[in-house]
Amino acid sequence: MSLKVPHRNPKRGVIGAIENPMTEILRPDPAGNARAALLLQQGGLVALPTETVYGLGADARNSAAVARIYDAKGRPSFNPLIVHVADVAQASRYGVWSDLAQHLADAFWPGPLTLVLPLTSDHGLSSLVTAGLNSIAIRVPAHPTARAILEKFGGPVAAPSANPSGKISATTAAHVLNGLEGRIDAIVDDGPCAVGLESTIIGLTAPRPLLLRAGGVSVENIETRLGIAIDSANGSEIIAPGQLASHYAPHAHVRLNATEAKPDEVLLGFADIAGDLTLSSAGDLTEAAACLFDRLHELDALRRPIAVAPIPDHGLGRAINDRLRRAAAPR
Ligand code: TXA
Ligand code: MG
Repeated sequence: MSLKVPHRNPKRGVIGAIENPMTEILRPDPAGNARAALLLQQGGLVALPTETVYGLGADARNSAAVARIYDAKGRPSFNPLIVHVADVAQASRYGVWSDLAQHLADAFWPGPLTLVLPLTSDHGLSSLVTAGLNSIAIRVPAHPTARAILEKFGGPVAAPSANPSGKISATTAAHVLNGLEGRIDAIVDDGPCAVGLESTIIGLTAPRPLLLRAGGVSVENIETRLGIAIDSANGSEIIAPGQLASHYAPHAHVRLNATEAKPDEVLLGFADIAGDLTLSSAGDLTEAAACLFDRLHELDALRRPIAVAPIPDHGLGRAINDRLRRAAAPR
């Protein structure tokens, strides 16, 4: 159900941030999901909840729609986007499937894992999605609302995180609206995202799997399933937004590994370090991941320098530290 009914001028078309500056807020029910799927079919931009973060979705086969993603986010250049699909059958239409891909899909799909695969020859995707590369990043999300919309839409949805370029990722509808209201056609509000960090990205285009981005599935977990160690990508891999030194950046300065706040700073605690707010007083990394971006949004609103307690660098802590280092990087 649409809560806000935008004014539409039929002569100017239903969709388009310029023609229609309203962002519809949809409920995660069959009517809301059907509306979201229809907007996607019409080339619209729809923010969708996933288990990792909110994604800003568009039809991955429609270049005009995909171009609008870059415009809405204010992304300075075209970088490859993750394609979201409902199942392995769809994934294998776009990415060249392999035993290793099947093994990882069996273990972690649906869920917060993205596979980068060689692009199939008859993929039909917009070249803005692949940024001209001959590989494609694909994931099958676990979130029931994302799945319902993907099934209803029936095609591939390109979706980067639903935040203005370089800023903190969105894990609630309020975060999305804060950054993108009026620039996107709709958002399906289904509350906070459970995982809270973007998907782990594994490259399967070389003989050995490569970690391209730490994320919602721990590397240790993947290594255990595969029974082999996974190397991290070196600098020769493509540079995409989440891999830039400064990313996920609040307005204020961020200082890491802080055990106490300096005068004027607000302290984000973890475990025994209480802080003004905490990621997890119990020292639970899953809890910390789930609330990381929300805490950063909250502290950012204070416009004071942010100090962050040390986070252990294992399991999900590796992805949390990756995001924190980029939030703290010089800009
Ligand atoms: O959890 C997530 O992955 C979220 C939700 C919405 O699904 N999406 C997300 O998308 O984080 P985005 O566009 O912000 O991140 C896309 C990342 C890029 O930073 C890049 O590292 C990687 O995907 N990527 C995409 N295509 C690639 C390719 N062909 N080769 C290597 N990396 C690629
Ligand atoms: Mg992002």
